[in-house]
Amino acid sequence: MRNRVIIGGQWGDEGKGKIVDALSRDVDWVLRYQGGANAGHTIHIGPEKHVLHLIPSGILHPGVRCLLGCGMVVDPWSLRDEIIGLEERGFQVRDRLRVAAGAALLMPYHTRLDELREAKLSRHSIGTTGRGIGPAYLDKVQRTGLRMGDLLLATDRLERKVIDKVLSANEALGAMYGAEPLPARVLAEELVVLAQSLAPLVVDAHTALAGVRAGRESALFEGAQGTMLDIDHGTYPYVTSSNTTVGGALTGTGLPPAALGEIHGVFKAYCTRVGNGPFPSELLGEAGDRLREAGGEFGATTGRARRCGWFDAVAARYSVDINGMTGVMITKLDVLDTQESVPVAVAYDLDGEQFDVYPTVGEVLPRCRPIYREFPGWRESLSDCRALADLPPAARAYLAFLEEVLGTRIVGVSVGRDRSQMIWTPDGVTG
Ligand code: GDP
Ligand code: IMO
Ligand code: MG
Repeated sequence: MRNRVIIGGQWGDEGKGKIVDALSRDVDWVLRYQGGANAGHTIHIGPEKHVLHLIPSGILHPGVRCLLGCGMVVDPWSLRDEIIGLEERGFQVRDRLRVAAGAALLMPYHTRLDELREAKLSRHSIGTTGRGIGPAYLDKVQRTGLRMGDLLLATDRLERKVIDKVLSANEALGAMYGAEPLPARVLAEELVVLAQSLAPLVVDAHTALAGVRAGRESALFEGAQGTMLDIDHGTYPYVTSSNTTVGGALTGTGLPPAALGEIHGVFKAYCTRVGNGPFPSELLGEAGDRLREAGGEFGATTGRARRCGWFDAVAARYSVDINGMTGVMITKLDVLDTQESVPVAVAYDLDGEQFDVYPTVGEVLPRCRPIYREFPGWRESLSDCRALADLPPAARAYLAFLEEVLGTRIVGVSVGRDRSQMIWTPDGVTG
């Protein structure tokens, strides 16, 4: 089994959870490497629906080991709840879940700072998930944060450390926002209790992943968010605070480049975005509402309505380039089943000038207007298709165009939310 990295190719919610679940059965490890509980990865298995925020999507397969890598920001309260939720549904979690000691610990003051900052920015807000992600990464790069390894400290040292951190966070909360202080002692006591339950999961990831490094064990890397939300390569400042792109898989696990294997991007057959920021192919009004309805486009983490639009091939090609994708998967093709025609943004227009290379400089993107090429719709249900040959010619033509314009093979097509609704196309759709 060759290792592979699964990366969101757009603005998140591409269906990474479904894909990772579908590919996890025979792997030794599924590794999350960045982000935190801002992620919402949904998996449908028959009538059951699971939404995972911190725990890798491989956890639903017995025997698969899962790691929260050092590139993540981990809210221990959320992690405890997620473990309990899975255990209540009959999944054994604790013997297979590990958390890197180097992962940043996300505290309630991060969440509070996130909320207050967003409220202060008001109409200029980023539209974050409110999970404390930006402040937690800020604490990390500022070198003042707690780490999951701190849960292994002796109780009195952990308590002292937490109290110190909360007291200094309280100063910031008061000075920046005039906010009420958080109860330092109560939080320290809660964290001591959490430590008793979570400390057994905390590992030295370098040692835990020795088998992967040596090539004896296989790994599937599960990206969160998407390329266009990358802190360095996305639509800054309307991005998340981590490297969602391929480099994050290295720094966020400590594994070397040779361990990555295939780099597979996941793209919806159209586009969505949650929160604020530029989105050239966005459909406003009724057309957008129809796509949202057909695709069930409401956030898995916050329940917010997702902004919807057509596939943006300019941004998607950029995403393929930035990550060095060796293949892509197209999800939610079935959502387009009733469309008369399916437009794809193939270039941008800026003040009368056309170009097809994604602009990363300055304030260009928000001023770009998409130029569309239209493809005929197929007007039939794809839900039961399980092979390329089952797809109607118009759907195949659409996929063939995406393969051509992205310059990389389509290795999988998802035609429904269920685990079983996949078409695997290892040789591409035109080969
Ligand atoms: P992720 O964050 O990338 O894992 O994606 P989300 O779980 O946030 O959002 C994807 C949504 O689309 C979820 O509700 C999935 O159940 C659903 N989904 C995934 N693949 C398909 C598909 O091929 N067709 C349909 N109709 N739904 C899908
Ligand atoms: P998954 O893994 C879609 C967006 C937020 C906001 C921006 C910053 O499910 O694809 P943050 O809370 O990270 O500081 O918010 O990023 N965002 C996501 N959008 N899917 C996600 O995760 C997201 N995680 C964050 O909406 O615009
Ligand atoms: Mg999601």
